[in-house]
Amino acid sequence: MGSDDTHHADLTNFSGSSSKREIYETILLSCEGLFFEQRNWVCNLANAASLLWYGYKTNTHDTKQNAVNWAGFYVLDATNKNQLILGPFQGKVACQTIKIGNGVCGTAAATRETQLVRDVEKFPGHIACDGGTKSEIVVPIVLNDEAKTVVGVIDIDCEELEGFDEVDKEYLEKLAKVIADSCDW
Ligand code: SME
Repeated sequence: MGSDDTHHADLTNFSGSSSKREIYETILLSCEGLFFEQRNWVCNLANAASLLWYGYKTNTHDTKQNAVNWAGFYVLDATNKNQLILGPFQGKVACQTIKIGNGVCGTAAATRETQLVRDVEKFPGHIACDGGTKSEIVVPIVLNDEAKTVVGVIDIDCEELEGFDEVDKEYLEKLAKVIADSCDW
């Protein structure tokens, strides 16, 4: 979708009766469409954050998905590779930098493993940007290169305990792969 396309479908117009899986499928398909011939990471992560946010907010029959209070990205800081820096997101103002290895985001970046945190109070070193957050999922965005370079993380927060499960993990890991492959880092 080029910049001169003024008329296009509203991709955030999800159907409220869709299941969690259907909404994630729509998000993935929409991202693939929006990322076509667009490899700028700021542009692509901004649209991905919007799609995720409206996806969660549309899912009114799923109280956990509907209680998402932050959806967005931290990326590797180009000026200091020991830390992540805030990227495009939807939700309240958040911490600007996070050291690799610190908090949930820094742990996901350091380990290259998804962190599914059912209760943030039980995660040692959790960084509380918003006191209302009770659970969280953070998925590393890893390049398909020899070094398996981490370029950022997807971070989704929820105001309910156990806000996320294996379905969220499955689809957010798919999204992380699409993002890793579709942007110039
Ligand atoms: N809770 C995160 C910090 C980022 S904010 O939640 C947006 C962490 O512990 O890494």
